[in-house]
Amino acid sequence: MIDEGFRLFPEQASTVAPRVDALYFFLIAVCGSITLLVAVLIVYFAVKYRRDARVDRRRRQAHTYAIETAWIVIPLVLTMIMFAWGASLYFGMSRPPAGAIEIDVLGRQWMWKFQHPEGNREINELHVPRGRPVRLRMISEDVIHSLYVPAFRVKHDVLPDRYTGLWFEATKTGEYHLFCAEYCGAEHSRMRGRVVVLEPADYQAWLGGGTAGLPPVEAGRRLFEQLRCDTCHRGGGLAGRGPPLENVFGSEVRLADGRTVLADEDYLRESILRPQAKVVAGFEPIMPTFEAQVGEEGLMHLIAYLKSLSSQGGTTTP
Ligand code: CUA
Repeated sequence: MIDEGFRLFPEQASTVAPRVDALYFFLIAVCGSITLLVAVLIVYFAVKYRRDARVDRRRRQAHTYAIETAWIVIPLVLTMIMFAWGASLYFGMSRPPAGAIEIDVLGRQWMWKFQHPEGNREINELHVPRGRPVRLRMISEDVIHSLYVPAFRVKHDVLPDRYTGLWFEATKTGEYHLFCAEYCGAEHSRMRGRVVVLEPADYQAWLGGGTAGLPPVEAGRRLFEQLRCDTCHRGGGLAGRGPPLENVFGSEVRLADGRTVLADEDYLRESILRPQAKVVAGFEPIMPTFEAQVGEEGLMHLIAYLKSLSSQGGTTTP
């Protein structure tokens, strides 16, 4: 069961949680002490210079460089510390470590669907192993949602038509809240679930039990054949009407209009749905759209398959 007892802060259950909290406490300490200082001075001067008080009211010297320097340098140093600290934390949280387990996430009104690389599917529940980085590849089937796990201190928007990513490494076994943190319609508040962190061996056992679907890579390969993509993208070094797809993911692709683009997950997705948007140099714009034939899940499977054809399939862009 999730611990529902009263607490000011959720449990710290991921590698970044203590780091996020440390920065947060630093910000509170800085803001709190400045607020306190100002409040104390206001009260002190209000009392000291109240009407009828016998105090020296002569005009003082207008400039003191010492005070001016102090009020420029001290806030500058403090804000630069906040900037550098926050930026390093942000970049660390944006870059998933190599070898992270990739889990596909589909958000829709009003549920979360997860699929593990082994094929296991879950709804509103996410099982992950302790001590291994997990990367979520997320997309929405309708409006903007936001996946939020307070105990991990991670939250990221889940958008229609574009992949977003999120990664974490759980440090404690247990069950934690999972929320949608973006108002997405009437039942937004019920769009929640739980993350279950298991010991690695228990996670393996969990993967083995239950009804596993096809692994996304395999489902993608079948879909690729079923849609007859291989008629044009022939592979194996054979010339086809479409560009070969081996090692495309993660590479720089030259386009017919002279531009060069990075073939990331969004590029692959766009090329399946809107093939005319970015035509590869040396090929005719003859590919039809597959918008009607493939849903978000099918797209994720196709992309998983295309990534598996690439030597850079393991490295991902967030
Ligand atoms: Cu989905 Cu709020």
